[in-house]
Amino acid sequence: MNIECKKWLEQKLAKIDALESYVPEKTIEKLAKQYELSPADIVKLNFNENLYIPREKLVALLKEVADECDLRLYPQEEEEKLREAIGEYLRLPQASVAVGNSSDEVMDRITRLFLERGDRAVTFAPTFSVFRYCVKYQGAEYVAVPLRGGFSLDVETMRAAFTPETKLLYLCSPNNPTGNQFEQDAVEALIEEFPGIVMVDEAYGEYADYSVVPLIDKYENLVVLRTFSKAFGLAGLRLGYALANPLLANAVNKIPAPYAINVVSLTMGRKLLENAGVVREAVAALKTEREKLINELNAIRGVEAFDSRTNFVLFNTAKPYEDVYVNMLKRGLILKKLGKLLMYENCLRTTVGLPGMNGKLLKALREYLGD
Ligand SMILES: Cc1ncc(COP(=O)(O)O)c(C=O)c1O
Repeated sequence: MNIECKKWLEQKLAKIDALESYVPEKTIEKLAKQYELSPADIVKLNFNENLYIPREKLVALLKEVADECDLRLYPQEEEEKLREAIGEYLRLPQASVAVGNSSDEVMDRITRLFLERGDRAVTFAPTFSVFRYCVKYQGAEYVAVPLRGGFSLDVETMRAAFTPETKLLYLCSPNNPTGNQFEQDAVEALIEEFPGIVMVDEAYGEYADYSVVPLIDKYENLVVLRTFSKAFGLAGLRLGYALANPLLANAVNKIPAPYAINVVSLTMGRKLLENAGVVREAVAALKTEREKLINELNAIRGVEAFDSRTNFVLFNTAKPYEDVYVNMLKRGLILKKLGKLLMYENCLRTTVGLPGMNGKLLKALREYLGD
């Protein structure tokens, strides 16, 4: 490498290194080692994964997939079949569906397609952090308008942030990490008025009160993100999709790399859609457990838990959040620490785990925070 190239590469690598990206928390193995626990005793409540889908069911479906797919071949019609199955699930034409390697990947793809250097993207705060990373990678400006009390949308201030350079609006609904879903009228007002692409992230759509999917016929600039990671319990598979009118969905489907999604994920997603009853049952069981968890959290002195339309619960504690987080970790319970969110100083988030997992969390919090 000549000197000039070396210099260029150094500068380029430093620039890439400075870009913010998602930093996953420590793995179960590493935490177990650090706190001298057995990995089997660790209760993972930090990633909003869904253990309500029976593991045996997924194993049985995966065996069927292994029998049916010939991994020596490039994917054939599996993507088309999955798009068709998603279309049936949501009563949409297949042409309105674009699939990807997780909804994060589809979000990144849409951001790259519609946001250029110098453009602006608007959202609210707090919200899912991956969108910010996508915007910054594009060299675009990220504008986040704080939510109001009760985690409601500040429609007026958001509207005031719409400029001719604002090309992308991101609305996470239900929102991570607050867990609430916004007034439908407020969301529609923003979609209607936004002068660019509106990306509504419905990662938790199956737990929600309403969906904006039916609005894709009405608004040509609306794209809705969905995932198999949450209600469908396939976080490890990395499968997500976007829904939009066929012209926009076709643009989202256009990517340079052929056969980007592997045949196992494509087929597994379709199989689980064919078994949607399993997902519906799991969603219903989780919602019942979630309400119990919220009530019991609120019964602990020094805890305020918020309503949720997702598979997680946000709560604020009277003691410093760092102390609560570390104390729980020492007991093998991994929470997501969030710190100050709006007027709440000490926020943490827990996944709605299986009843035994939630029971361990409640017991630990009672011991540490309660009487
Ligand atoms: C709002 C939101 N969108 C997207 C994702 C990621 O979904 P996927 O696994 O499909 O990338 C998450 C995961 O926590 C999320 O909370």
